Amino acid sequence: SSHLRTSKSKIVVCRDLGPDVMPLLTKRDDIEVVTWTEDCVCDREWLLKNISGAVGIVIVFSELVNAELLDAAGPNLKVVSTMSVGYEHIHVSELAKRNVRLGYTPDVLTDAVADISVMLALMAGRNANETMGIVREGLWPKFIWAPFALCGPQLSTSGISPSRTVGFLGFGRISHATLARLIPFGVTDCIYSSNPNSAASPKKERDEALLKQYQPQLKSLRPVDRDTLARESDVLFILAPGGPSTRHLIDEDFLRKMKKHSVLVNAGRGTVVDSDALAKALREKWIWGAGIDVVEGEPNIWKDHPLVREPRCNILPHIGSASFETRLAMATLAVENCLAGIVGQNMPAELDV
Ligand code: DGY
Repeated sequence: SSHLRTSKSKIVVCRDLGPDVMPLLTKRDDIEVVTWTEDCVCDREWLLKNISGAVGIVIVFSELVNAELLDAAGPNLKVVSTMSVGYEHIHVSELAKRNVRLGYTPDVLTDAVADISVMLALMAGRNANETMGIVREGLWPKFIWAPFALCGPQLSTSGISPSRTVGFLGFGRISHATLARLIPFGVTDCIYSSNPNSAASPKKERDEALLKQYQPQLKSLRPVDRDTLARESDVLFILAPGGPSTRHLIDEDFLRKMKKHSVLVNAGRGTVVDSDALAKALREKWIWGAGIDVVEGEPNIWKDHPLVREPRCNILPHIGSASFETRLAMATLAVENCLAGIVGQNMPAELDV
């Protein structure tokens, strides 16, 4: 005797994932898709109401997944699938309590974020914000080309500066991809500091393999304490996750130890950096410049934010993964995770909660 299904499984999708990805859901006749179609943060009241009875939910990093939301969903919920690699917007212990699985999107965005990390390093060293401002404001005619006007520290090694140390706070996939891109720039030394409890913790064999891969250009690669990271980095890349364990690791004390010509790049999470301390470091010229894709408190970053006011602060509005190729891959993976998870299959990218 076959059991006739009378109701479809409900999946709530918190953004329109576009014409290439939505059909993976909407063409299925066993699934009811409920979508927040506006291109803005999904309304909380709408979500709390519509999630009731859902088996899966596809979100982006602006949706807070906490007990309130999970209770509103009720016992049918099997999967939360986030279109992001970061997951600090998700209370994972609440998922664990309810046996809800978590899908995320690692790997597919690694290259896009590594690209933008290099871009930010170049922008910050060579004064992109400040100098493009000159053109935009119509001030170019006043800036007669002068031998040392508008100079900045070079990212690549040069005759007068034959060594370059790049530092990484967090040394996972995106840091590795960033390092790979910097080898042709002539980087000679790589140092990193990472959370000893994370997957990116120091690994002797991995480090030896990386060094071997990039020799003879790369002379050294080693884990260091944060003090050394601050003192020795010519360019510091912050590619660490957010959350309480990394909050304000970059503070006034750290920034004061950095080199005067050093550049700070943050394409990880805004919360890792104390914004007021960074603004002070730039204002008082403890470091040369900063290139940041993330800011604590985003997206509420207005014109009068202390970092926006600093000409040496090159700020992007969290576009690290924003390439056509990557966003398509992220959206596809998020949907595939959800579809696999709701029927108890292996998800292409599941995070153990
Ligand atoms: C991520 O995937 O975590 C990015 O920050 C964009 O959401």
